Amino acid sequence: MKTAIRIGMLGMGTVGTGVAKMLTANAEGIRQKTGVPVELKTVLVRTPTKTRSFSAPVQFTTDFREILEDRDIDIIVEVMGGEEPAKSYILQALKAGKHVVTANKDVMAKYGRELFEAAEASGVDLLFEASVGGGIPIIRPLKQCLAGNKIQEVMGIVNGTTNYILTKMTGERADYATVLAEAQAKGYAEADPTADVGGFDAARKIAILASIAFGTRLTVNDVHVEGITRITPYDIEYAGELGYAIKLLAVARDTAKGVDVRVHPAFIPLTHPLAAVSDVFNAIFVKGDAVGETMFYGRGAGEMPTASAVVGDIIDICRNIRHNVNSRILCTCFDNKPLCSVEDVESPFYIRLLVADKPGVLASIAGVFGTQKVSLHSVIQKRKIGDRAEIVLLTYRVPEANMNLALYNLNKLPVVAQVSNIIRVVASDF
Ligand code: NAP
Ligand code: HSE
Repeated sequence: MKTAIRIGMLGMGTVGTGVAKMLTANAEGIRQKTGVPVELKTVLVRTPTKTRSFSAPVQFTTDFREILEDRDIDIIVEVMGGEEPAKSYILQALKAGKHVVTANKDVMAKYGRELFEAAEASGVDLLFEASVGGGIPIIRPLKQCLAGNKIQEVMGIVNGTTNYILTKMTGERADYATVLAEAQAKGYAEADPTADVGGFDAARKIAILASIAFGTRLTVNDVHVEGITRITPYDIEYAGELGYAIKLLAVARDTAKGVDVRVHPAFIPLTHPLAAVSDVFNAIFVKGDAVGETMFYGRGAGEMPTASAVVGDIIDICRNIRHNVNSRILCTCFDNKPLCSVEDVESPFYIRLLVADKPGVLASIAGVFGTQKVSLHSVIQKRKIGDRAEIVLLTYRVPEANMNLALYNLNKLPVVAQVSNIIRVVASDF
C-alpha cells in the first residue's frame, strides 16, 4: 500500500500554478478522496529563477530526466503546452510506466493514437480532461456517462479567448487588439494567440471531441477551420440589428455523407442559448440517440477552472492506483468513418457586399444568386462609402458548393467592388 502519491509537473505557468495552488489548498480533501496524501514533488520549467505568483514547496528543474527517472514519482502532469518537447516527454513518461495527465490539445489532437497505444502497452492512465472546455467536464461524460448512446452531434463554443473578444467587441464596442491583450493578460490565450483567433485551438478541441463522440480517429487536419480575424465591428452591428450574435462555433456531426467537422464564426439567433454564452465561458451541446440534447457549460479557460479539470484527473488516477485498475479507458476510436466535404454542408448565409450605387445593381446580384439556386431571405442597405453602397444579404439554406460558385461569379460582376464578408447563419426557421 502506497503511503503517498507523488507528482512531477512539466510547466508552472497559468495552469501549472493553478494546479499547485489547488493541491496545496485542498490537500486534506484530496487525501480523503484518494486515501493517500498527493504531493507535488518536482516541476520542470524553462527559467527556475523566475519570480512566481505562488511559492509551492517544490523543487524546480530544467532537466526532464530528473522527473522521468525519479522512481518516487507516479504521475506526470504535462502543462507546458506546444507540440514539442511536450509530446516526446509524454511518450517517454508513458513508456517509463508513469501515468500522465495533460491539458495539451495540440498533442492530443495530433498524436492521440500513438500515445494511447503507449499507455496501453505500459498499463498506465492517460487523462486529458482539461484539453477541451477548461473547467467543464466533457471528455469523461462522453467516454463514460454517455457511452451507451449513439452520439449524433457535438456543437458549441470551445474557445474562451475568442468568446471573450467577441463578447467585448459586441457589448462594449471594444477594439480587437485591446481585448486580445486583455485575454492574454488573464491567461486565457495560447502562447501564440493566432491559435485562438485563427480557430486552430477550437479545431483541435472539436477533433478530440468528435473522435470520442463518434468513435473514429480525427485529427486537426480533418477540420475545416476559419477564425475570427475577418469579423469587423460592422458585422457585429449588422448581426445585432438582424437579431443575432456572432460566435466562433465548433461543429461535429455524424451524417449519412460522413463526419462533418468544422470551426467557423456563425450568426446565432439571440434566442438561442449559445448567444448568451459570454466572456471566457464555453458551452457544448451533445446530442445522443437515447439522452437527447445535453448542454455542458462553464469557464473554458483560466488558471483555477483549468486546474480543476487537471486535479480531477489526478484524483481519478490516484484512485485507480489504489485499486490497481489503471488503463481501463484509453482509446475509444474503434471505427474509420469517412469525412463529409464542407461543400456538402447546407446553411443560410450572411453576406456583406460593397457595390456600385446605381439602378439595376440589386437585380444583377440577385441574378447571380438565382443561377446557383441561392434564394435570398432579406436585403438591407444602410451605409454609403464614397460613391458605393454597402448591402447586406441573408440567404435561405443552401449547400456551400452553390454558395461558393455564386461568390465566384459575384466577384466577376463589374458592379461588385468587394465581397467584404460571408458568415454562416445558424437558424432553425429558414
Ligand atoms: P504558460 O502559462 O505559457 O506556461 C507554460 C509553462 O511551461 C511555463 O512554466 C514554462 O516555464 C514551461 N515551459 C514551456 N516550455 C518549456 C520547455 N521547453 N521546457 C521547460 N519548461 C517549459 O501555459 P498555460 O497557459 O499554463 O498552458 C499550459 C497548457 O495548458 C497548454 O497546453 C494549454 O493549451 C493548456 N490549457 C491552457 C488553458 C489556459 O486557460 N491557459 C486552459 C486549458 C488548457 P517558465 O515558467 O520557466 O517560462
Ligand atoms: N486558449 C484556450 C482558450 C485555453 O482560450 O479557450 C483553453 O483551452
